[in-house]
Amino acid sequence: MTRYLVTGGCGFVGSRMCLGIKAIDPHAEIVAFDNLRRRGSETNVVDLAAAGVAFVHGDIRVPADLDDLEGDFDVVFDAAAEPSVHAGTTGSPRYVIDTNLGGTVNLLEFSRQRARTFVLLSTSRVYAIEALRGIRTQEGSTRFEVSAEQDLPGVGPDGVTEDFPTDGARSYYGASKLASELLAQEYAAASDLDVIINRCGVLAGAGQFGKVDQGVMALWVAAHIYGRPLRYIGFGGTGKQVRDLMHPDDLLSLVMRQIDMAPTISGQVFNVGGGTPISVSLLELTDLCRERTGNEVDITPVPETASVDVPVYLTDTTRVRETTGWSPVRDTSAIIDDIATWIEGDIERLRPIFT
Ligand SMILES: NC(=O)c1ccc[n+]([C@@H]2O[C@H](COP(=O)([O-])OP(=O)(O)OC[C@H]3O[C@@H](n4cnc5c(N)ncnc54)[C@H](O)[C@@H]3O)[C@@H](O)[C@H]2O)c1
Repeated sequence: MTRYLVTGGCGFVGSRMCLGIKAIDPHAEIVAFDNLRRRGSETNVVDLAAAGVAFVHGDIRVPADLDDLEGDFDVVFDAAAEPSVHAGTTGSPRYVIDTNLGGTVNLLEFSRQRARTFVLLSTSRVYAIEALRGIRTQEGSTRFEVSAEQDLPGVGPDGVTEDFPTDGARSYYGASKLASELLAQEYAAASDLDVIINRCGVLAGAGQFGKVDQGVMALWVAAHIYGRPLRYIGFGGTGKQVRDLMHPDDLLSLVMRQIDMAPTISGQVFNVGGGTPISVSLLELTDLCRERTGNEVDITPVPETASVDVPVYLTDTTRVRETTGWSPVRDTSAIIDDIATWIEGDIERLRPIFT
């Protein structure tokens, strides 16, 4: 029987991982560990219990909360975080640093003694903002497109590779994740712990409590279902900013492969995402939401761009595909449909979270 500790286990990605692992391996013993800080995460406690996942209320910033856990684990999956790139930009950055860096170090230390494999969910936001803004684009009718000619290394029409510059400011969120990656690599080198590091682009699917600063796909679909107004924020307010998307089920299928091959890939960094084929601009997303829900909502342009925002991010997945044989299968429409089906199926319970 395999034992998993999933921190942030009541969050969007963590809860999907817990339920997905249970579906693949019903005998797995899974502990979802969460401080329930993210609004909506408390609603997952019941679903997890129904699936046979144990819930422990705890905080990764507090080593004693981890020490209190019973037994050893085969896999520690670190999905607890403050996941907003805006975190700390208008106040103290203590929470994002203490959780994303301090908490991850606590977990690495816990895992060194009590686990075999550690999975770190890092982010494309480790790349420097100035460099991301320096990606040459041309303006198409519905999106910014990455140009074939680039001045920077590690970027082309297929997206951003692991060789793209990380040097320069990248937000407290990105910096805390990059620092975690560096320390995770030290644990991989200096201890018996195998460490898997995935730099994820946007993750999207059912179960994400989207808000303006994080989880925009779910926010967009929910606004169309509940008839709420939206804003195209930044880059002239045209809605042409682009992201690639990945469904958590595709992430899970990758991580399960990586766990099997952990000793051979420990400490390596992988860019992970849907890539150019599974990408969307806000403008295109609006069309897809209108098509799926039959509703139109007011969208106001806000031309000013936030200091941490970037016009385009697409993941070049060459390294992860060549190393693991994985590729994502759920496309943009499938992801939108998954979110819409979830909200429509639980419309009153989710209303206060999205409106
Ligand atoms: N969602 C994305 O698009 C995306 C993209 C790249 C990387 N990631 C990474 O994936 C991971 C999961 O993100 P998510 O989208 O599920 O976010 P989420 O906010 O839905 O989930 C995070 C969970 O962690 C919990 N948490 C926060 N601080 C904690 C603490 N100190 N101790 C214990 N629990 C705590 C929250 O209550 C929440 O349930 C994060 O590490 C995030 O950086 C997410």
